[in-house]
Amino acid sequence: MSNYDVIIIGAGPGGYVAAIRCAQLGLKTACVEGRETLGGTCLNVGCIPSKALLHASHMLHEAEHNFATMGLKGKAPTVDWAQMLAYKDDTISTNTKGIEFLFKKNKVDWIKGWASIPKAGQVQVGDDIHEAKNIIIASGSEPASLPGVEIDEKIVVTSTGALELGKIPKSMVVIGAGVIGLELGSVYARLGSSVTVVEYLDAVTPGMDAEVQKTFQRMLKKQGLNFVMGAAVQKTTATKTKATVSYKLRKDDSEHSLDADVVLVATGRKPNTAGLGLDGLGVEMTKRGQIAVNDSWETSVKGVYAIGDVIQGPMLAHKAEDEGMAVAEQIAGKHGHVNYGVIPGVIYTHPEVASVGQTEQELKEAGRAYKVGKFSFMGNARAKAVFAGDGFVKILADKETDRILGAHIIGPAAGDMIHEICVAMEFGASAQDVAMTCHAHPTYSEALREAALACGDGAIHM
Ligand code: NAI
Repeated sequence: MSNYDVIIIGAGPGGYVAAIRCAQLGLKTACVEGRETLGGTCLNVGCIPSKALLHASHMLHEAEHNFATMGLKGKAPTVDWAQMLAYKDDTISTNTKGIEFLFKKNKVDWIKGWASIPKAGQVQVGDDIHEAKNIIIASGSEPASLPGVEIDEKIVVTSTGALELGKIPKSMVVIGAGVIGLELGSVYARLGSSVTVVEYLDAVTPGMDAEVQKTFQRMLKKQGLNFVMGAAVQKTTATKTKATVSYKLRKDDSEHSLDADVVLVATGRKPNTAGLGLDGLGVEMTKRGQIAVNDSWETSVKGVYAIGDVIQGPMLAHKAEDEGMAVAEQIAGKHGHVNYGVIPGVIYTHPEVASVGQTEQELKEAGRAYKVGKFSFMGNARAKAVFAGDGFVKILADKETDRILGAHIIGPAAGDMIHEICVAMEFGASAQDVAMTCHAHPTYSEALREAALACGDGAIHM
């Protein structure tokens, strides 16, 4: 038995960041993780491996479509799938080893195994009971499937199986036009698969700005992805080599089906709470099966906290990280805080899609008076030079005060550019503040400044 100030359950982005911050604040800290490597879903089977495959497949796309125009002649490369997967695995292991190093550096103990909480103040791993004044649950989420859809991770796969397919499928059906479906659908479309996305709603990426949704779907179609919209998937039937996806069109209830070598189920994720012993502990849950917490991320059981995908809010690694730092500060007697109004969302397709704050639809529903500043990347010289003129930046600002309420970008490096607006929003900046800030030329970020200018007297290059 060992005694700790804090034990964190789960070493994903929420858990490992919380552990490092607790240790930095002088708390004796351990983190329990049952996977072979640290980093959770994000590093092992999520954000990081998918980015490696997105990068590799984008390079292929560039070689096939844009190299010749730039005077780079020669045959486009062929794909060595085993090598591409090895590159992806290498990317994972450099990062997971990095966290192991950070744990050692910060004197965080890694307790290997799966944890449960027999009672407040105790964490059980295997036969060992560890005492902890504070426990942070950061056990993440797992893919949520659909009734009638049986996952085998070979033919009918979640994102986990899609990151290690035996070969590149000739055809793929993606169920769900959310972030996972579109990122991984893009990867396989670029690698030569015929990809069809079947989506229940009438627009891709639920919750995004409607104008972005439309432009995004148009661009993806141009890249070769097929879409069946307004279609509710009923079931899949799989053999050893193929699967059939049956769906009903919502407009007329007509029944249809599609065959594919691989079916990717990307219909959302659910909190991972099984096996923690929460029932016995009496931890209150929300109606949606999340752990209920107060403003300090404390559950209904004193000394037991929860962060990340197991609680409410967007299931995003960076949201979990922010909560990890903040809860550590709360436990150490400081004032941890997360601004939930300024959490960026990014889709790492090409082009990238990024947004922060409110959408036009949300502002309309709230009856808020707002103005729109929009700028197309066609007016941005840098974007045009790299075949990235399609897309736009849209800034939404309060009609009277000019304070920035949200921003939506579809275009090159959108996922990095969005942070200029995040910082502006954190400081309560107006669109004019951004418009009056000198932006280097030629950069993609100039499009942001132009959109900010468009909230006032007008953009220059449009
Ligand atoms: P999602 O919630 O983003 O999208 C799921 C889609 O499936 C929705 O559009 C929904 O309408 C559709 N759907 C549900 N049932 C259906 C049915 N029966 N037939 C047809 N369509 C159906 O979920 P996704 O993409 O699986 O992602 C899960 C979580 O992981 C999200 O919270 C996401 O934010 C996070 N994530 C974030 C990434 C990023 O930030 N770049 C990357 C990957 C995941």
